Amino acid sequence: MRRAKITIVGAGNVGATTAHWCAAAELGDIVLVDIPQTEDMPRGKSLDLMQASPIVGFDANVVGTNGYEETAGSDVVVITAGMPRKPGMSRDDLLEINAKIVGSVTAEVKKTSPDAIIIVVSNPLDAMVQRALQVSGFPPQRVLGQAGVLDTARFRTFLAMELGVSVEDVQAMLMGGHGDTMVPLRSCASVGGVPITQLISDDRLDEIVDRTRKGGAEIVGLLKTGSAYYAPAAATAQMVEAIVRDKKRLIPCAAYCDAEYGVGGYYVGVPVILGSAGVEKIVELELTDSERAAFNKSVDAVKELVAAMAKFADA
Ligand code: NAI
Ligand code: 2OP
Repeated sequence: MRRAKITIVGAGNVGATTAHWCAAAELGDIVLVDIPQTEDMPRGKSLDLMQASPIVGFDANVVGTNGYEETAGSDVVVITAGMPRKPGMSRDDLLEINAKIVGSVTAEVKKTSPDAIIIVVSNPLDAMVQRALQVSGFPPQRVLGQAGVLDTARFRTFLAMELGVSVEDVQAMLMGGHGDTMVPLRSCASVGGVPITQLISDDRLDEIVDRTRKGGAEIVGLLKTGSAYYAPAAATAQMVEAIVRDKKRLIPCAAYCDAEYGVGGYYVGVPVILGSAGVEKIVELELTDSERAAFNKSVDAVKELVAAMAKFADA
């Protein structure tokens, strides 16, 4: 059977760690791309990763490069290229510089891998996916963003820590943009099938939801030199797996919503079914009144971001 070809653009913390998770899970052969200024760095990381394969026991070819020739015909392209957040920076501060970077990367991907599914990770996420859609001209089903898997994982981790239970038994769903307005859905959170509202008081749940919303900033504050990468990379690898193994996972992704949820043509975090065709379905949930209001507020924040990006139309 032919192995999937996975390109990861940006061989920094998130990109290289995504390559690590993808290789270890034998999701396919991997091409790790970074800019010419980084010289041999992507080749060095790829060779290092290959040399882990006899120890860990995986078969995957991993190559590093500063160009797009070797990425040709990729099935999945993950874009992590860009600047990460520094302490005191919001995701939105990254808007102008990363819009330029994501635009130029997407133009290369369009030329070399016209049939690929693009997963954008670069921040500010919801605007960057919109940028990738604009530049690629791909159908929206083949352009999506990673945020919800990470944010939901943070929510699940905090719930498991609170209750002292296995994370494996904690289920949750989260919607909205990848920012402080994201909407962890307490109506969809459960532990071993028991609704979370029967296990944790409303006040305490409010605190956990707030910590989830600020989960990225908490890590930035601790690391001081960049942002989170282990969990973001694991989340991205889960999405790659859903596509290359046609798993039909029901997970939250930044997907292009038009009539769905009345969003009107923007990327926003929603539950989707993710398989070999990309976003195969956007699942429309019945939200409570307060969840719907919070979701609408989050969509408004995404719209503002996209409007701000329009100033850099030639980015
Ligand atoms: P990093 O600085 O470690 O790596 C970024 C890499 O992108 C660098 O190696 C840089 O040389 C490369 N790069 C810059 N311009 C490029 C171009 N035109 N072509 C190819 N490569 C290019 O940063 P890190 O921590 O890996 O984060 C990457 C991005 O992902 C940031 O924008 C960050 O905010 C975002 N992020 C998003 C998350 C999400 O959940 N959506 C979670 C974590 C990070
Ligand atoms: C995060 O949530 C910075 O978006 C990144 O960790």
